[in-house]
Amino acid sequence: MSSTKPRHESARTRKRKQGWRTADGSDIHELYELSVQDPDNEVSIIKQIWEEQRGRPCQSIREDFCGTAAVAMRWVADDPSHTAVCIDLDDDVLAWARARLPERLDESQAGRLSIIKGDVLSTPTDSVDCLLAHNFSYYIFKDRKRVIEYFQTARQGLVEDGLFILDCYGGSDSFVEMEEARDLDGFTYVWDQDSYDPVTGDVVNHIHFHFPDGTKIQKAFTYEWRLWTIPEIREMLLEAGFSDVKVYWEGTEEDTGEGNGEWAAVESGEACEGWIAYIVGVR
Ligand SMILES: C[S@@+](CC[C@H](N)C(=O)[O-])C[C@H]1O[C@@H](n2cnc3c(N)ncnc32)[C@H](O)[C@@H]1O
Repeated sequence: MSSTKPRHESARTRKRKQGWRTADGSDIHELYELSVQDPDNEVSIIKQIWEEQRGRPCQSIREDFCGTAAVAMRWVADDPSHTAVCIDLDDDVLAWARARLPERLDESQAGRLSIIKGDVLSTPTDSVDCLLAHNFSYYIFKDRKRVIEYFQTARQGLVEDGLFILDCYGGSDSFVEMEEARDLDGFTYVWDQDSYDPVTGDVVNHIHFHFPDGTKIQKAFTYEWRLWTIPEIREMLLEAGFSDVKVYWEGTEEDTGEGNGEWAAVESGEACEGWIAYIVGVR
């Protein structure tokens, strides 16, 4: 979702990459983690937000819509006091996450992580310091009533000074039907904004993976979402009972105009082509 436009690979690059990966035998969850997720960065943002908003360390998190549970696993590995619960509906991705526990976590770390199969709307857990809904997964709820119901459920799952951290995306490019390709190590990640309906706000996005030998995994993942805006999300969080809402915006590299990985709470943002922001619901 950066504003990088697709680049054509030179014949030389194609040659160099041949044989690195091919569609046959590639694992879509592994490719997803490599192209979409950055758990170290997520852990560092959680810590920064806690430092700035609460002045105390966060210990327990709940990762809703956890998929491969990458953030929760990184969280428990980060500190012996950290605990995590993660929830997802999908048996396949949870089995994938569970199968990787032994190679990713030692016994003590794994003992501080619970992976639960369930619907985030109806899976109560012990209260946590911080609840996460990342990679825009709550956009699956397409009407205000449903989103507010989810936000209320999230709020109920927090301790008294708890924080709910969500991410969101937008910018002029997000309303355009377009594809964006990013070359990664041995494969190309393609973000395909297949459709956007200006009347309903509904979007259909796909992730495809293309390989140097010309093979492809088309529609490895498909997301049918409502493209919510920051003001709408803020209003729904307040309606769900959160006492305040903070928005964290990324700084810009002067020379490239790309995000610089430094986040700050802001009162207003910039009208760029593509952005990602963190929204914090203060309980
Ligand atoms: C976009 S992926 C997010 C994966 C991961 N959290 C990340 O940050 O990349 C969305 C995940 O939400 C799960 N999901 C969708 N609706 C759900 C629900 N109501 N309750 C729990 N999980 C749900 C899907 O199975 C899928 O694994």
